[in-house]
Amino acid sequence: MIDKRLFKIPGITPRIIMIAILTLIQAVMIVIQARALSIAVVQLWELKPLATIVTPTAVFALGFLCRHLITVAQNRTFYPFVEKTTGEMREQLMTKLFRLGPSLVEKNGTGNTVTMALEGIDKVQTYLMLIIIKIMDMGITPWVILLYIAFLQWKEAAFLLIIYPVIILFMIILGLAAQSKADRQYAGYQRLSNNFVDTLRGLGTLKQLGLSKRYANNVYSVSEDYRKETMATLRIAMTSTFALDFFTTLSVAVVAVFLGFDLMDGKIMLLPALTILTLAPDYFLPVRNFANDYHATLNGKNALKAVLDVLETPETKQRDELKQLTWHDDSAIKFDDVSLTYEDADQPTLSHISFDVHGFQKVGIIGASGSGKSTLINLIGGFLTPDEPDHVSLNGQKLAHLSQEVWQHNSIYIPQAPYLFHATLRDNVRFYQPDADDATIKAACDKAGLSDWIAEMPAGLDTMIGEGSRGVSGGQAQRIALARAFLDDSRKILLFDEPTAHLDIETEAALKEDMLPLLDNRLVFFATHRLHWINQMDYVLVMDHGKLVEQGTPTELAKHDGPYTKLRAEMGGLHALD
Ligand SMILES: Nc1ncnc2c1ncn2[C@@H]1O[C@H](COP(=O)(O)OP(=O)(O)O)[C@@H](O)[C@H]1O
Ligand SMILES: [Mg+2]
Repeated sequence: MIDKRLFKIPGITPRIIMIAILTLIQAVMIVIQARALSIAVVQLWELKPLATIVTPTAVFALGFLCRHLITVAQNRTFYPFVEKTTGEMREQLMTKLFRLGPSLVEKNGTGNTVTMALEGIDKVQTYLMLIIIKIMDMGITPWVILLYIAFLQWKEAAFLLIIYPVIILFMIILGLAAQSKADRQYAGYQRLSNNFVDTLRGLGTLKQLGLSKRYANNVYSVSEDYRKETMATLRIAMTSTFALDFFTTLSVAVVAVFLGFDLMDGKIMLLPALTILTLAPDYFLPVRNFANDYHATLNGKNALKAVLDVLETPETKQRDELKQLTWHDDSAIKFDDVSLTYEDADQPTLSHISFDVHGFQKVGIIGASGSGKSTLINLIGGFLTPDEPDHVSLNGQKLAHLSQEVWQHNSIYIPQAPYLFHATLRDNVRFYQPDADDATIKAACDKAGLSDWIAEMPAGLDTMIGEGSRGVSGGQAQRIALARAFLDDSRKILLFDEPTAHLDIETEAALKEDMLPLLDNRLVFFATHRLHWINQMDYVLVMDHGKLVEQGTPTELAKHDGPYTKLRAEMGGLHALD
């Protein structure tokens, strides 16, 4: 019913205890309030002087006030904590996604990771906020009330006690039904967001092929499915809320009937009977509240699970084999017969890759689509682990993999679509350097060619970008990635994975101009199938079907009639002319 990992959130235990104590006081207030109210009513019934009801009325008012003030206090104490926790979770999630790199994003689908990180966290916030308080309420309040009722009249208490598990059982059955619906709905949501992001990405191509209309129908049918699933979940939630309300009301009525008979038989006095009757609805209230919000927070629970699953994804071990690294002119990275087999594949995707690169070389990685360029970049970035250890070395030190803390601290990875967070432009740019001041950020944005765009925006650097906020074009996203790189001068290793593949030629040309200064005095690995970039490279690795078929300087390679010349001829044309 509740994710147990919830209780492992640091600092949550004292808060839970605090809320439990407040809930206990609140329950006592409920009893006092009911008792005082009943006394006042009975006095009036017995036509006692008005003065006799002043005290009970005052006590009632006080109890009532306390009861609701405690609710406010609970929310006030808990909310900052929840906000802080989810804020930290968001940060951890970002860092984790960065470390795990593109492979995890690919596994889950782009839309999903984005959805999870941004919207998911907001759902987790609602969930945490509601669930702890409600559970405490359900775990404490009814029992205090029941204890008091038992003290007044054991028979009614026994009935209330027996009916309680029945209601819970009822709630669980309906809850499970709603849960499976909500699971399905969440899966539908992921499908919808993946589909949407992919369609957006491919919109240009679809338009070119004249398929955009047909795809509109596809988007329509996927979102229609999602609507139906949402409605089905809501229907169950509504039905179960109604059923639960009906059932608890009925139970209170039964208690009233019992009390009526007892009153007639003279087995109970008016005051205790009235007190019990006033308390009975409050006995059921926590369950009803819990059930109502439980349905509302199912999504939050799913989101929490998704977030925790990502946070708990094991990272590569031995991340500290390499003790320190500052990339210099004479630093060297060596691949010696490196192979890589994906988990679910039976054949290696990369086999026997060897190269030796040093200093501030600019290394182009070229090859047809599917030849293994991205896989190689991911190996270099440390997002994948080679099949065998000790085939990779940095400055002569043999390593199991490049998922080394210090190596990753020295490198910047820029893929086709860089990560943009749902945050201000400022926070997006200073991701690697959270302490950077505005002047530095502005200078970096200027170098990255973002200034004109920022000047156009009313909120400037404070503009929110990312999911659901201001749209950012592919070219601007790349420029934001460039600004990050310009901002952090200490990271001397740049890994590009087809950064311009989805841009049109003019955008690419403009971007290239701003990008070139960044490449100076840095070690660069640049995977691309747009061959004009080769003119900026001083070393080339030519990939074909997972093998490194040729390597050398562009001039060397151009001299003989090998795979490089062949690739240039094939891919040449427009892009190669630059
Ligand atoms: N996560 C993965 N699991 C299994 N196979 C993969 C995975 N990613 C890529 N591949 C396969 O590895 C090969 C090389 O892919 P990739 O490195 O993406 O090539 P490129 O970037 O040159 O297009 C392809 O055959 C692709 O299907
Ligand atoms: Mg690729």
